[in-house]
Order: sequence, then C-alpha cells, then structure tokens
Amino acid sequence: MKVSVVNFAEEEVEIRSVRDRVFGEEQGVPNSINWDGHDGRCQHVVVRDGDGKVIGTGRLAPCGKIGRLSVLKKFRGRGVGGKLLARLLAIARASHLPEVFLHAQTKAVGFYEGEGFEVVGSPFFEAGIKHLRMSKRLKKNEDE
Ligand SMILES: CC(C)(COP(=O)(O)OP(=O)(O)OC[C@H]1O[C@@H](n2cnc3c(N)ncnc32)[C@H](O)[C@@H]1OP(=O)(O)O)[C@@H](O)C(=O)NCCC(=O)NCCS
Repeated sequence: MKVSVVNFAEEEVEIRSVRDRVFGEEQGVPNSINWDGHDGRCQHVVVRDGDGKVIGTGRLAPCGKIGRLSVLKKFRGRGVGGKLLARLLAIARASHLPEVFLHAQTKAVGFYEGEGFEVVGSPFFEAGIKHLRMSKRLKKNEDE
C-alpha cells in the first residue's frame, strides 16, 4: 500500500469514488456537505492498493483543518487511515502550521486519540451525525 500527496483535479474521479461510497452510501452524508466546494483549496492524500486503485483518502485545508478521512470498508483496520493521517500531519508541519484540528465523528474519536488528538469542547451535529472538535499541537521536527 502506497500513500501519496496528489493534485485534486488529477485524482478527482478516484477520490470521488471513495468519498461517495464511504460518506454518501454508507453514512448518508448529503452531497452538498460531502462535496462542499473546498477541495480545490485543500491538499489531498490517497492510499492505493497493490493494483494502484485508490482505497483511502483525506484532505488538509489551509486553516489546518483535516477532513474527509475515509477508507473503503473492506480495507479498514489495516493501518490505511493511520498512514493517511500521518501524511496529512507531515504536510501540516511542512506548511509550518502550529496546530491541526478536525471534526471527528464520535465513533472515530478513539482513532484520533491514538494519533495524539485531544477533544476540545462539547458534541455537535453535522450531517445528522454527532461530532466532537479535536485538535493536535504540532512540534517542529517531530518524528512521524
Ligand atoms: C476512521 C477510519 C478512517 C480509520 O481508518 P482505518 O484504516 O480503519 O484505521 P487504522 O487501521 O489505520 O487504525 C489506526 C489505529 O486506530 C485504531 N482505530 C481505528 N478505528 C478506530 C475507532 N473507530 N475507534 C478506536 N480506535 C480505532 C486501530 O485499532 C489502530 O490502532 P493500532 O495502531 O493500535 O493498531 C475508517 O474507519 C473510516 O474510513 N471510517 C468511515 C469514515 C469515517 O467515519 N471517517 C472519519 C470521519 S471523522
């Protein structure tokens, strides 16, 4: 499995396929939220399987918000999400961001806590799904 930083316009079809399946079909997130028009301003990462097919994706916005982290169901629990997040954190450090944050679905909080994120504030609803804001301070030159 290979993780890469990609140009959204070049990989849009494959990124769409993963996000449509995970957020659209599986979680019922409306298209207006899944495809919020911010992708062109974000940096994107993908993980490909051995055949070169995109199986996971995520993005980092210029403000330091990580989002749309998604792995196709049958590939979960094998380190793909962790790889995507590690690469997004590396991009954030290289961009000299002091901190990154995200809106975590409550069932994914444990995943982000394992990667050093902390819950900030109270739960709220987005796309009908309960979320918590989480953040992580970035130290310069921190080992990945
Ligand atoms: C959340 C998601 C991206 C995690 O991807 P993944 O490939 O399954 O995660 P990994 O296999 O890299 O897991 C990394 C670590 O987090 C742990 N973990 C994964 N999901 C977890 C969860 N929901 N709660 C607690 N821990 C979790 C794993 O056990 C693993 O721990 P380890 O390093 O000690 O073995 C994936 O489950 C997903 O796409 N879910 C649907 C979309 C979604 O809800 N995205 C998050 C939006 S906020």
